[in-house]
Amino acid sequence: MGYISKQEHLNHIKIYKYKIKEKGEENMKEEIAKIKENSIKEMENCKNLKTLDEVRVKYLGKKGELTSVLRGMGKLNPEERPIIGSLVNEVRDELNSLLEEKEKELKKEELQKKLEIESIDVTEPSKKIALGSLHPITQIIEEVEEIFLGMGYEIADGPEVEKATYNFDKLNTPPDHPARDVQDTFYITDDIVLRSQTSPVQARVMETKKPPIKIICPGAVYRSDSVDATHSPVFHQIEGLVVDKHISMTDLKGTLEMFAKKCLGENTKIRFRPHHFPFTEPSAEADVSCFVCGGKGCKVCKGEGWIELLGCGMVHPNVFKNCGIDPDEYTGFAFGFGVERIAMAKFGIEDMRLLFENDARFLKQF
Ligand code: DAH
Repeated sequence: MGYISKQEHLNHIKIYKYKIKEKGEENMKEEIAKIKENSIKEMENCKNLKTLDEVRVKYLGKKGELTSVLRGMGKLNPEERPIIGSLVNEVRDELNSLLEEKEKELKKEELQKKLEIESIDVTEPSKKIALGSLHPITQIIEEVEEIFLGMGYEIADGPEVEKATYNFDKLNTPPDHPARDVQDTFYITDDIVLRSQTSPVQARVMETKKPPIKIICPGAVYRSDSVDATHSPVFHQIEGLVVDKHISMTDLKGTLEMFAKKCLGENTKIRFRPHHFPFTEPSAEADVSCFVCGGKGCKVCKGEGWIELLGCGMVHPNVFKNCGIDPDEYTGFAFGFGVERIAMAKFGIEDMRLLFENDARFLKQF
């Protein structure tokens, strides 16, 4: 840079001022056209939103080129000002709408790029989700429910913490009955027990529902048994109850036969042995022919050819009376069986404890 004397500097300013004065309407029109041309070119070359914004600021911003044209208008004649003013406005509007269009275009492109980068490869193998399976007890309960629902039964439910009256008294089981021994049953108080059977649900249903009644009731029951291969203090039962006019023992036998065939196989036979339950009269225990050996004798039936399945009988008139049903008008049958016993026989499980240990390595086999 050479040295400029003060005089030279003043001369420069003079020349500059002169030039501005010289700038008439025509000059300004040219300048505006140039600004327009340049800004459109730059706009077209923009590759992203950031550079587009830089172009906006450069030409239309507060200190932008087009705005500074407006500022220079003071040098124009009063009659020239509105002409240039409206031209600037016109160009500004035009540039604004071009900018808007370009912005839309760039946004679209950027979205497209983003979608390409972030797209999901649906062919990529996914992480394996470890799925559990239904517990064998649940599987049996669901299977039995399915069979009885198919025969028009409803599913009933009752409390596991039960009044002793429902668990015993209403079921014709008097206070001196051995089933009520503290050795056999868990007492919460003298009047409240952990139900030792699902039979109390029979009484609850009969008290609230008018015959005809056709229910099954699956659920957990409790007995103060020590744990071993065939005993557990908690296990599961399914209770059945049918009450209507003219229900007889043949209905019971036909129902159980149908159930056994559906649950254990078409060739399954059933036999009744006389037994005693306080809430049924007559009572029986029902055995099924061994579904493993077909009756010849094997490990599962312990050489017997038969497997004990359940307790059953015709509802005792005292139970009807205790639950508000007239035994002269109605008859009915009931049955109850242990779910674990069926699960063990069906799945070939030899130790009941395996069903309660919840070892996934064991459970996932079923
Ligand atoms: N509640 C009986 C038990 O736990 C099983 C049973 C037997 C239920 C005969 C019944 C029945 O409904 O009629 O051993």
